[in-house]
Amino acid sequence: MSFFTMSVLLGILHLASGQFPRACANSESLLSKECCPQWPEDGSSCGELSGRGSCREILLSDAPLGPQFPFTGVDDREDWPAVFYNRTCQCLGNFMGFHCGECKFGFAGPNCTERRLQVRRDIFRISAREKNKFLAYLNLAKHTTSRDFVIATGTYAQMNNGSNPMFRNINLYDLFVWMHYYVSRDTLLGGSSVWRDIDFAHEAPGFLPWHRLFLLLWEHEIQKITGDENFTVPYWDWRDAEGCDICTDEYMGGRHPTNPNLLSPASFFASWQVGNGKREEELLYAQMLGTEMLDPGQLR
Ligand SMILES: *[C@@H]1O[C@H](CO)[C@@H](O)[C@H](O)[C@H]1NC(C)=O
Ligand SMILES: *[C@@H]1O[C@H](CO)[C@@H](O)[C@H](O)[C@H]1NC(C)=O
Ligand SMILES: *[C@@H]1O[C@H](CO)[C@@H](O)[C@H](O)[C@H]1NC(C)=O
Ligand SMILES: *[C@@H]1O[C@H](CO)[C@@H](O)[C@H](O)[C@H]1NC(C)=O
Repeated sequence: MSFFTMSVLLGILHLASGQFPRACANSESLLSKECCPQWPEDGSSCGELSGRGSCREILLSDAPLGPQFPFTGVDDREDWPAVFYNRTCQCLGNFMGFHCGECKFGFAGPNCTERRLQVRRDIFRISAREKNKFLAYLNLAKHTTSRDFVIATGTYAQMNNGSNPMFRNINLYDLFVWMHYYVSRDTLLGGSSVWRDIDFAHEAPGFLPWHRLFLLLWEHEIQKITGDENFTVPYWDWRDAEGCDICTDEYMGGRHPTNPNLLSPASFFASWQVGNGKREEELLYAQMLGTEMLDPGQLR
């Protein structure tokens, strides 16, 4: 068994707080390395005038990295987010988010002082109406451009140290697909050379906390776009499952009758064109690798 150290762990926990805040995806922010956006309600950076937080230098652990990653200075994800930003909002009390405009999980209200209990339920024990609502919310996320976050379509070096920002819009569902991919992808060592023995979110103690935070943030974003403040992601209790019993058209989609690589055409998700999404991910990856120069038009 191998372990990452806390520095990698802390780095990835930062990562999960969104790919790149739209407000910081510009050359001014990248060149100054400061990502401390204004909280729109009071117009101050990090909501400082309202006592929500302040712009601070990021603190990084100096613990050594695990043996899986025998490099320094080759991957934008090292000491995240230090390659891109060295000052970010540090939020006080129950405030959270890239501009401290959100409440920490479990809190609500204008000053984030109201406790809110959220209960995740077994997908097989919620009503058909609630289950259908869940699928409709996923569909809405798939068709809603993220308001607050964009994704990087190039490395920091490709962005010419910030003077040439490379970001694009993404829908709220794919944002989370992308974050998961970005944290676990290989390290690009230049040319076609890659280091595959790295994964910043799995195979080490960061696995559980990373995914817990990931799900909390996903839930939170869905709560925001639907206005359903009590929404929680149902869970699949697979302890006694003999197979994938949520892989049916009523739930997450059955298999295509003739092509095992496709979803059943009767599935709610068949129209999502997962295949195209995968292809797009590969295109972005190829672009980051720089091995296959792409027509940027393909990515828009
Ligand atoms: C943060 O980045 C800026 C811009 O590159 C640089 O001037 C500053 O010295 C950096 N601060 C630290 C503490 O590294
Ligand atoms: C929230 O905090 C502000 C500033 O302290 C205060 O003026 C306001 O009354 C509070 N609102 C509520 C609903 O507690
Ligand atoms: C980017 O910054 C690094 C470190 O400061 C420097 O070595 C490199 O030459 C810069 N690259 C460009 C394209 O400015
Ligand atoms: C969320 O749950 C709380 C507590 O049960 C309730 O007061 C509130 O009305 C609910 N919100 C919505 C939008 O249903």
